[in-house]
Amino acid sequence: MRTDTFRGRDFITLLDWSKEEVEQILDLALDLKRDRAIGQYHDHLLRAKTLFMIFYNQSLRTRNSFEAGMHQMGGHAHFLDPSKIYTPALEGKEVAYSTERVSDVARVLSRMGEAIAIRCYGDPVDWEYGGANALLHEFARWSDIPILNMEDDKYHPFQALADVLTVKEKFGTFKGTKFVMSWAYSPSAHKPRAVPQSAIIAASMMGCDTVLAHPPEMALDPEIIAACQQYAEMNGSSFEISHDFMAAAEGAHVLYPKAWAATPIFKPPVGEDSLDKAQEIFDSYKDWKATREYMEQADRNAIYMHCLPADRAWECSNEVIDNTDPKSGWRSVVYDEAENRLHVQKAVMALTM
Ligand code: CP
Repeated sequence: MRTDTFRGRDFITLLDWSKEEVEQILDLALDLKRDRAIGQYHDHLLRAKTLFMIFYNQSLRTRNSFEAGMHQMGGHAHFLDPSKIYTPALEGKEVAYSTERVSDVARVLSRMGEAIAIRCYGDPVDWEYGGANALLHEFARWSDIPILNMEDDKYHPFQALADVLTVKEKFGTFKGTKFVMSWAYSPSAHKPRAVPQSAIIAASMMGCDTVLAHPPEMALDPEIIAACQQYAEMNGSSFEISHDFMAAAEGAHVLYPKAWAATPIFKPPVGEDSLDKAQEIFDSYKDWKATREYMEQADRNAIYMHCLPADRAWECSNEVIDNTDPKSGWRSVVYDEAENRLHVQKAVMALTM
């Protein structure tokens, strides 16, 4: 493996990385996972190095897996709350003595550490689709050290790596694996599209037969759909869109139903500029829920995936998400998926930092 092609690179979207590079990351993640299981530690890999983590939004998995990962590799992950520093802001969005221009923040942190990780979506950019992704790119423009995307409003690439690593562990192959990314109901109309968009990129890039299922109003970014179609063509696999929740699940090996909001969030096609209308449209799809009946449409050995946090009782029944018994046929792998965040992030950090 050539590691010199990884060093110093940003990790904002999988679209910037080749299939071969993603395979190398997954292989290294598996090596690190096995080593940790047998008590072999790698606290020399990032010794004395610092990862700055700027969280504009809440997090359980992402924050803790990055912090644990940096600790396990001998470095330090430093948590930065944007409201407790001068909030990094783009030119034109600044407030005197309250914000600090991204170009200055990026150059200052570049003098002190080895990578900057950022989570930003939703309220901090007024739910303007692409606004948070633009913020990350502005950081990348000025930073001398890698920018790692801990979820923006378009992409959640580390979640997608953990997702495909989990598929690889469970099935050993991507070829012939039917991967269904589906919308599911949640009462919250405020959910970014980053997880489903990155999941379909990763699944189609790796060669799964990928299906995207959603109500017509919840379409994803057409540029990302086009990229998925291209990956399917390159891999000799398939990429399809369905508006039928149950039919899409038929014969699936991977079922990944979760809620997301269409964008613009309160504008057509969802909501006609009205939160009430958006809520009304969401509430008309309450039957898009992962239940036993839904899982039984799939292959006998299907897995249920969710990035978590799950809106239990709305997106899925307890019976589905809590079924981790491999003897039952279909089963939930959500905790393996969450754990795999740690291993893929360690792999990317070790390679890029
Ligand atoms: N899946 C995920 O990113 O979880 P957190 O929001 O808890 O980080």
